[in-house]
Amino acid sequence: MKTPLFLAELGAKALGALDAETAHHLTVRMLKAGFGPKAALDTPRLAIDVAGLSLPNPLGLAAGFDKNAEAPDAALDMGFGFVEVGAVTPRPQPGNPRPRVFRLRADAAVINRYGFNNDGLDAVSARLKARERRGIVGVNLGANKDSEDRTEDYVKGVTALAGLVDFFTVNISSPNTPGLRALQGKASLEELMRRVMTARDEAAAGTPVFLKIAPDLADEDKADIADAARAMKLDALIVSNTTITRAANLRSGAASETGGLSGKPLFAMSTALLREFYGVIGKNIPLIGVGGVSTARDAYEKILAGASLVQLYTALVYEGPGLPSRILKELPSFLDADGFGQIGEAVGAGAS
Ligand code: FNR
Repeated sequence: MKTPLFLAELGAKALGALDAETAHHLTVRMLKAGFGPKAALDTPRLAIDVAGLSLPNPLGLAAGFDKNAEAPDAALDMGFGFVEVGAVTPRPQPGNPRPRVFRLRADAAVINRYGFNNDGLDAVSARLKARERRGIVGVNLGANKDSEDRTEDYVKGVTALAGLVDFFTVNISSPNTPGLRALQGKASLEELMRRVMTARDEAAAGTPVFLKIAPDLADEDKADIADAARAMKLDALIVSNTTITRAANLRSGAASETGGLSGKPLFAMSTALLREFYGVIGKNIPLIGVGGVSTARDAYEKILAGASLVQLYTALVYEGPGLPSRILKELPSFLDADGFGQIGEAVGAGAS
């Protein structure tokens, strides 16, 4: 459908003139109102089964774009094979003061320090209940900033949204909630995963649980995460969230803002970490590669490095809502060039 796509691309350009958060709210509102592109894709070679889910293609919308589950179906219509809404915390919370999202245009990057602003589990669960289940929609779970038992917050998320989503992501890697990343340490991680898996088995048996990790991990943390992932039979590991590091070659003035950096400068480091985890647990646990994907080549590189699925967010800000369908149309040419039939054959093929 040419017209809506054209309008949406035009809209994306106009949105670039607004401050990043206002532009984001407007985009979600436009999508909710039905102004997003409706990609008509027929890509049987891109279909893949991961963690018990049958996906039409491996490209997903990463968490943080649709924090409150306002427009998951519009995101599916853009061509995404799966959508991760959230992060949602048990109680609604306002997040950090504005401004808290910054475009680093010259670097094709974004820095955000939202701090889990969201409507809370009741509102998100009501929205998910109201929609007709179709496509693959999962939820990214977070913990309230002032929570006394953060582990329990993830359990509450699983229980409240059981039966409404196709997967849960335990997000302990946001850099914007002080102390949250400490949950990636061995003892806390094992306790967290044990309680979450038990809640899943009781309330949402069969729904896969993913864990999303930071790109800024010490070697010891990586080993602990790999051990816990194996021991707890994690359904997939998402590599990675935003980075708190700043490469020296960033050109934008906003590079000195506090928060998590996403987009192009994250690509190499998140892909290296993905490759590393593939070498350690790739044969047992599927990996989801995210960080700096803006082209079909980037997505394919993540897949070769070991990703069964790929997600993106920041590139949408710069490339507009036609991006997923462009990537998906181009991906099969990479399979042809390497002599693969199905996308699954390429997973990890360039990992060594
Ligand atoms: C994010 N991301 C994110 N991740 C998460 O697990 N929960 C969240 O709530 C958010 N929120 C969020 C807000 C904004 C404004 C951005 C830019 C990012 C991280 C996101 O899902 C992804 O892991 C990284 O952004 C890396 O991918 P891209 O953006 O480089 O494709």
